Amino acid sequence: MTVIPKTKYWPPGSGDAAVAEAAEAIVSGGVVAFPTETVYGLGADARRPEAVRRIFAAKERPADNPLIVHVGRLEDALALAREVSPLEMRLMESFWPGPLTLVLPVRPGAVAPEVTAGLDTVAVRVPDHPLARRLIAKAGCPVAAPSANRSGRPSPTTAMHVLEDMHGRIDGVLDGGPTGIGLESTVVGVKDGVVHILRPGGIDAEMLKECAGEGVEVAEAGANPSDAEASKPRSPGVKYVHYAPRGEMTLVTGDPARMRQTVQDIVNRKRAEGRKVGVLSCDEHAASYEADAVISLGPRDVPAEAARKLFAALRECDARELDAIVAEGFPERGIGVALMNRMRKAARGDLLTV
Ligand code: TXA
Ligand code: MG
Repeated sequence: MTVIPKTKYWPPGSGDAAVAEAAEAIVSGGVVAFPTETVYGLGADARRPEAVRRIFAAKERPADNPLIVHVGRLEDALALAREVSPLEMRLMESFWPGPLTLVLPVRPGAVAPEVTAGLDTVAVRVPDHPLARRLIAKAGCPVAAPSANRSGRPSPTTAMHVLEDMHGRIDGVLDGGPTGIGLESTVVGVKDGVVHILRPGGIDAEMLKECAGEGVEVAEAGANPSDAEASKPRSPGVKYVHYAPRGEMTLVTGDPARMRQTVQDIVNRKRAEGRKVGVLSCDEHAASYEADAVISLGPRDVPAEAARKLFAALRECDARELDAIVAEGFPERGIGVALMNRMRKAARGDLLTV
C-alpha cells in the first residue's frame, strides 16, 4: 500500500479552511477521516475506484465487505438507488440525518463497484454531524466511508483513535472531538415489506417499529438465527471478527450480583495463571473489583453512556497491555441491544450467563 509520510491533522475548531482542504483531498482521490455522530469514518469519493481501493488498503479490509456511502441530503441518496419503496422513503424521512443506514438496490454506475463489493445493493446514510455534513457538501460527491479503524479493531470514537490505526496510511483526519453515540449506525434492509435489522445500532427496533407503523414487521438481528436465510438481505461484514481488543475477552451476563461474583472468580483464576487481567464494569460494581485494571462504562442502567465509552475502553485495555478482559453485560434495552452486540463480538463468542 501507499505510505503517506505525513497524515494531516486538523484540530477541533479549524474552520472552513480545514474543511475545504479535506474536501479537496477527497475530490483529488485521497482518503480523509472525519467524525460522524456514531464513530469516525474513513472517506473517499465513492465514484472513483482507485480512491475506494485506497480505503480498503488503509483498513486492510477484505474486498468482499462493502462500504456505506454518505450523502448530504435525501435527494442525493435517491440518485444512488434504482428504486425506493414508500416504506424505505418513510424510514429515510424519519431518521435522516441520523444513525440509520439503508441497503437499497444500487443504480448501475452510481458508485464504483468496489464500494458495493459487487453486490446489486448499496448501503446509504445521511450523517448527523456538522463537520461530516460540511465536508460532504464541500466535496460535492457521495462519500464512501467505513469506520476509520483497521479491520478487526474497535471503531474510533476520537481522532486520536484514528491516528493510532491510520497514521501514515491516509491523507488526513478532521478532529471534531469525541463522537456522541459511540457505536455505528443501524443497518437495515427492507424486503417484502419487512424491515430487517442487519446490524443493530443507534436507532433501535422500537424506534423503527414506531416509524414503520402498524402491520410492518421489524426483524431483529440475531433474534431468530434460523430465519429463512433466503428471505433475508445479507450484510457481508457481519461474518468477520470485529471490535476485538488484543487480550482475550470474556463476557458475563445475568443477575447483577451473581455476575459480579463470577467476574471476580474468573479474574482470580486468570491472575493465578500469571496473566494481567482487567475488568469492564458498571459504576455500581467498579470499586468492589480486585484486578490489574478496572474500567467503568458508567451506571448499569444508562446503556447510552456505556455505548459511548465501550470502544475507547477496549482500546484502553490494549494500551494497558492486558492479557485478558472480563466484562459485565448490560441490560439489552434501547441502545443496550447494539452495545451487547458489539460486546459479544469483542468477546469472540466467549460468553457466560449466570
Ligand atoms: O455509523 C456507521 O455506520 C459508520 C460511520 C462512519 O458512518 N460506518 C460504518 O461502516 O460502520 P462499516 O464499513 O464499518 O460498516 C458497514 C456495514 C458492514 O457490516 C457492511 O457489511 C454493511 O454495512 N454493508 C455495507 N454495504 C452493504 C450492502 N450493500 N448490503 C448489506 N450490508 C452492507
Ligand atoms: Mg466497521
